[in-house]
Amino acid sequence: MKNTIQITRPDDWHIHVRNGDILKTVVPHSARCFGRIMVMPNLVPPVCKANQADQYREEIVQAAGELAHFRPMMALYLTDNTTVEDVRAADANPHIVGFKLYPAGATTNSDSGVTSVTRIMPVLEAIASSTLVLQIHGEVTDPNVDVFDREAEFIDQVLSPLRREIPELRIVFEHITTKQGVDFVKAAGESVAATITPQHLLFSRNDLFRGGIRPHYYCLPILKRHEHQLALLDAAISGDPSFFLGTDSAPHSRLKKETSCGCAGIYSAHAAIELYAEVFEAMDALHQLEAFASFHGADFYRQPRNQDQITLERIDWEVPANYPVAGNQEDEIVPLKAGELMRWRLVENE
Ligand code: NCD
Ligand code: ZN
Repeated sequence: MKNTIQITRPDDWHIHVRNGDILKTVVPHSARCFGRIMVMPNLVPPVCKANQADQYREEIVQAAGELAHFRPMMALYLTDNTTVEDVRAADANPHIVGFKLYPAGATTNSDSGVTSVTRIMPVLEAIASSTLVLQIHGEVTDPNVDVFDREAEFIDQVLSPLRREIPELRIVFEHITTKQGVDFVKAAGESVAATITPQHLLFSRNDLFRGGIRPHYYCLPILKRHEHQLALLDAAISGDPSFFLGTDSAPHSRLKKETSCGCAGIYSAHAAIELYAEVFEAMDALHQLEAFASFHGADFYRQPRNQDQITLERIDWEVPANYPVAGNQEDEIVPLKAGELMRWRLVENE
């Protein structure tokens, strides 16, 4: 059994880092490991314009300190009011690589999202003829649709028609959670890819209710049946370049998670690559980790692959019960696998 593995430095193609105190707490966790992080724009208010993204990026770079390998990439938040000029400005900005489509009301901080894709066709066409990518939170928002079916419904109601309408639009189907999602991406050809989170590889919906209701396993899209978890595992280790790493690490303060109406989001940036390494090892597929974590995403986004390497060592370590929020003694973030043992650890400061 090997005790270390070296891979090309990975990128995290879907992450939430918030702002202010939480940002200062979480950004170093990603920066220790990843080259690029693809920063989601669902702040309050959302990051809709290129100049807002520039300011936000500066805050992230500051929080990471002097790390030559670390490069935040930005996404802008699509609304019903996004203009073709907004797309052009984004396309001209080297740090902005995508527009994020949140169906209005689908998830945390998505109130300003798009109410209907048909309303923003000119903007989507402008994205299709730019170098930018459309990043989609793929769930319908109709409260009458069962929460476990919202991704599959979205494929039928929105994604498939959109593909027919604008086949050249390059799409990342974010944090896919279902077999239907996997099948759609596999069948869609080169212009569609998907990110897969650690939690959807590690857990099924049973884990949400293991011995009681567990708010720290609640994210959107919600964990699904075991058969869907298996489909995601197969896709992640398959070597298919359409599937790549995106943690969807989504920090919230403990108080917002542990309450009568807890919010959606799982924090995983403290151990992101380590969590994926455990998944791939359990599947006897550690040899596929590098392609999933370091090659497929960069290739899809038409960015150069990272040139340097990281090392993971096999050593047991315990995930802290919580991470105090910098500068705020009242607040803490409960990470994924809090208090549990991890079997791989990134070797830092090489
Ligand atoms: C994300 C968040 O908290 O910003 N929450 C989540 O459960 N994943 C939003 C999102 O990506 O849906
Ligand atoms: Zn997300």
